[in-house]
Amino acid sequence: MDQLKCPYDDIKKDYIIPTKSWLKAIEELNPNDYYIKGKIILAELLEKHKVLVKVTSGKSAKLRDINSKIKGLPNMVYTYCVILCNDYLPVILNTKQFCSLNDQKYKATLEIMKLYNGGSLNNKNVDLIMFKNILEQIVLGQINLFVKTGLTHCDIHPGNILMHKNSNEIELIYGYLPLNLNNPVIIKSQYEFILSDYDKCVDFSPIGIGSSYIIEPDGTVLNFNVDSIIEDIFESILYKNINRTLAVLLEKLESNDKQKIKDNYMHFHNQYDKKIIKKEKKYLEKYIGNMNKNPDNKINDYIKYKKKVGKLNQTYWNLLSQLF
Ligand SMILES: Nc1ncnc2c1ncn2[C@@H]1O[C@H](COP(=O)(O)OP(=O)(O)OP(=O)(O)O)[C@@H](O)[C@H]1O
Ligand SMILES: [Mg+2]
Repeated sequence: MDQLKCPYDDIKKDYIIPTKSWLKAIEELNPNDYYIKGKIILAELLEKHKVLVKVTSGKSAKLRDINSKIKGLPNMVYTYCVILCNDYLPVILNTKQFCSLNDQKYKATLEIMKLYNGGSLNNKNVDLIMFKNILEQIVLGQINLFVKTGLTHCDIHPGNILMHKNSNEIELIYGYLPLNLNNPVIIKSQYEFILSDYDKCVDFSPIGIGSSYIIEPDGTVLNFNVDSIIEDIFESILYKNINRTLAVLLEKLESNDKQKIKDNYMHFHNQYDKKIIKKEKKYLEKYIGNMNKNPDNKINDYIKYKKKVGKLNQTYWNLLSQLF
């Protein structure tokens, strides 16, 4: 069998050489498939894990950076390889050549991911025990992710929450939760709940924030309009993502006490929502405002900002978790 090597990560080469079954599945794809919408191919990897190949169109090279940032964090998809190409798949398969990665947009993106055996929350409901387990993992997972990488997910819906049932209990270690940096929170569960699809992620690092605005020729991000940046990214702040997670899971909850739980939550929400938003917005204004005034300090300010936002949301979560 010819080998199709992943140009993404040399170290993992042995793991991502695809089996005949997934090469065959790709060969059978209609070349038009990947122009229209995402397509999922199930296949088996040579090594121990089953994989899923997702073929989509038009994703940017940003996806690779994001994948390398989230690798190894709990509740995040393990991606073996991302192949970006501007050619027809049959050409790629014949020549075993990949495109140069200079372009920002690609015709086809192949993401080779671990297959999570429980699928997504689409068409599923959850009982209260499962609800709590998912909520805790996905909320802590997002705070952990933010404090480590400055990323928020921004595309939380049932199809992007995946489940994996392990044969034994596993430990999920949240080493970046700001209130527990010296003594990481560990969740033990037979299930892991995973957030997938990172192409709508927002990057709050100076590079991420700077990239969508004017950058001076010498590389510094100066004199931008603080208000317009805040307006642009405000819907993507960590707290809004956590709230969205909660809303999605409440919709999925199947329990005799559902109405009572919803009412309690609404009461809690009314009490805290405005306060938390106001605080997170204040932190954001200060961070972006300082970046404008004193670009030399932006990395330090960014680190402080991530920690403050993480602490705020972790404190909020500690209160919220007592409701359920
Ligand atoms: N790594 C995975 N393991 C198991 N099932 C997956 C995996 N990735 C995706 N799926 C399944 O494939 C379905 C389709 O995924 P896909 O991401 O294409 O669409 P979606 O999440 O429903 O919508 P969106 O396009 O907004 O992300 C998911 O709902 C999920 O059931
Ligand atoms: Mg998805």
